[in-house]
Amino acid sequence: MSKAVFIGVGRMARGLIESFSREGGIDGCSILGTHHDPMRCEALQEELGIPMVASNREAIEGARYIFLCVRPLQLLDTVTEIGNLLTKEQTVISIAVGVPLIRIRARCPKAGPIFHVHPPSLCMAHTRGMSFVAHEARASTEAVKHVEKIFAKLGSVRTTAEENIDRFAVFAGASPAFVCQILDDWHSLALDEGIEKEVADEIIHYIVRGIYTAYDGYDPRNGDRFSLEQIIHRIATPNGVTRVGLRAMERRKYRNFKGALKSVASQCLKKIAHIRDAVGRQ
Ligand SMILES: NC(=O)c1ccc[n+]([C@@H]2O[C@H](COP(=O)([O-])OP(=O)(O)OC[C@H]3O[C@@H](n4cnc5c(N)ncnc54)[C@H](OP(=O)(O)O)[C@@H]3O)[C@@H](O)[C@H]2O)c1
Repeated sequence: MSKAVFIGVGRMARGLIESFSREGGIDGCSILGTHHDPMRCEALQEELGIPMVASNREAIEGARYIFLCVRPLQLLDTVTEIGNLLTKEQTVISIAVGVPLIRIRARCPKAGPIFHVHPPSLCMAHTRGMSFVAHEARASTEAVKHVEKIFAKLGSVRTTAEENIDRFAVFAGASPAFVCQILDDWHSLALDEGIEKEVADEIIHYIVRGIYTAYDGYDPRNGDRFSLEQIIHRIATPNGVTRVGLRAMERRKYRNFKGALKSVASQCLKKIAHIRDAVGRQ
């Protein structure tokens, strides 16, 4: 049986391993993980129920897929360590934000196709999401299809040019945390206003469930999904209370709420640009 190896089992690799295992595996491969700390290897082997080794060079031997899951500034050193052992039969998948494919290729010239995938961060919260796949021009259609099929187990997959990945990392990858933060602030405000915690918890629960059901469900009159705009329109009676709140959202904080979110997105994109600069100096 061929192997799929996760190099650097931390938060993200752990989420991916758990999700892939739950969804029927990776292209018929056995899954193996690595961590440079042998003590972590022991603990992770116990927790995840997969073999873990401390040596990356040993782990990649005969592997079909190699998932590079270390942090961005650790990535090039890690690839340098294994680069001369990689062969053209091996597909390399980096999930590191801000590390260009060309920099990875320079350190493993004989490896098979190299991909940069932004996987769903939601797999760390035990659910599915969107993956974005970028690849080298030399990757064959067949190789791209294989990688798309692997990530399709975690939700939907979009193949895109590498220059688009940063935007998707922010707008798809990071954003569930922002939405949760907004709901958490709303919950905390409800408590400040004297609403009991149990009730505030239930309010948030029904907001999330309600939006999910409306957005994912169907309008019984015409069979369409509700758009976000339609949900807002349904809730906000003209000249009613919700309308006043929506107008206040527009006026407040950076003049409007969208302005505040724009600043969040631009800070994230700047962070990715800094990572890329730092990787460029390595
Ligand atoms: N977090 C997200 O939502 C998200 C989403 C998409 C993509 N990503 C990408 O996923 C990657 C991992 O992020 P993460 O949050 O999972 O980081 P993480 O928890 O720090 O995981 C990386 C792990 O790799 C270990 N490691 C470092 N060098 C190693 C080596 N040479 N061999 C084996 N193991 C090594 C690290 O150990 P030490 O801590 O001892 O260094 C750490 O435990 C990053 O490149 C990030 O850009 C993350």
